[in-house]
Amino acid sequence: MVRCARVPKERGEEARGFLASEGLLDIDHSIVRDGDFLCIPVLEGRMPYEEVFVDAPAVKRKKTDFRTMFPEPIRGDLPHSFDVVGDVAIVRIDDAVAHLAEDIGEAMIAVNGRIRAVYRDMGVKGDLRIRELVEIAGGGGSETVHRESGVRIKTDPGKVYFNPRLATERARIASLVRDGETVIDLFAGVAPLPLVICKLASPSAVYAVDLNPTAVAYARENVAMNRFGDAITVLEGDAAEVAKGLPQADRVVMNIPHNSFQFLGLGLSKLKVGGTLHTYFVSGVDEAGETVAAALAAAGIPARVSSLSEMKTYSPNSSVHSVDLVRE
Ligand SMILES: C[S@@+](CC[C@H](N)C(=O)[O-])C[C@H]1O[C@@H](n2cnc3c(N)ncnc32)[C@H](O)[C@@H]1O
Repeated sequence: MVRCARVPKERGEEARGFLASEGLLDIDHSIVRDGDFLCIPVLEGRMPYEEVFVDAPAVKRKKTDFRTMFPEPIRGDLPHSFDVVGDVAIVRIDDAVAHLAEDIGEAMIAVNGRIRAVYRDMGVKGDLRIRELVEIAGGGGSETVHRESGVRIKTDPGKVYFNPRLATERARIASLVRDGETVIDLFAGVAPLPLVICKLASPSAVYAVDLNPTAVAYARENVAMNRFGDAITVLEGDAAEVAKGLPQADRVVMNIPHNSFQFLGLGLSKLKVGGTLHTYFVSGVDEAGETVAAALAAAGIPARVSSLSEMKTYSPNSSVHSVDLVRE
């Protein structure tokens, strides 16, 4: 039974306003009609109305923001966003609320039926770009199957690099692929881009290269699971070595933003004249053009910029940029 204020119907609006202004209104239960009276659910506290206890139903409110489950004063310190890979959520948590990590994870699961487990993101490390994850809620491990652009991508965000936020970029590149192209992804990870290209376009051959044996194992499984075995060849090893054995391509992709220009000569050397290289790099927001020009001069292979755009902020003074280069 729910504690209510019983008031004549015609005074209902006024009483509701008064109770709300006094912080006494119980918004989790519905107002109940009792003849010419209304029973308005109220919280503990003194009020100038008749007190009754009635069977007031709970308000069905769909909570979508897990932060509403925490007291107002700390909501500003809680995470404002998180990534979902398959049924696994990955969230960065400020040190100020680190002691609430498990509660944050439980709240995320409570409001989002898609999430099975929640991991705290401790950052990406090393050349293989592997994210350090700490389980904070749920269970079942961090291996999962992510769906994107009509393909299924099996991955383990705690063992290999995978970024669901690149879905739009992958679809953009796939939209540029013409029938019969040869495509090389030199730092392919679990092969999300080769899979999306084969789903949305009709290349004749796609080569997916990666140094991380775990990523390569997932890439092979993903190719088989999505039935692209005729089009995609997965190769394990250092891109510089593996590329020597690959044919000239219409399109080369290099997603390795912190070292991309170290590999620029390699990527351009694998392109046919007129072919396109897609790569990413970190630089000052206003220095992207000159950074690319300097890298092209150092690579020594003629190419022109066909597209250059800022993808996301990386630090207060730098951003990740995307550049498309056409070999001349
Ligand atoms: C930023 S991740 C990109 C992965 C993938 N393209 C994606 O978007 O999910 C960079 C990848 O390059 C791989 N890698 C690092 N150094 C490499 C090298 N020398 N040769 C081949 N792969 C390398 C890492 O294992 C990692 O999977």
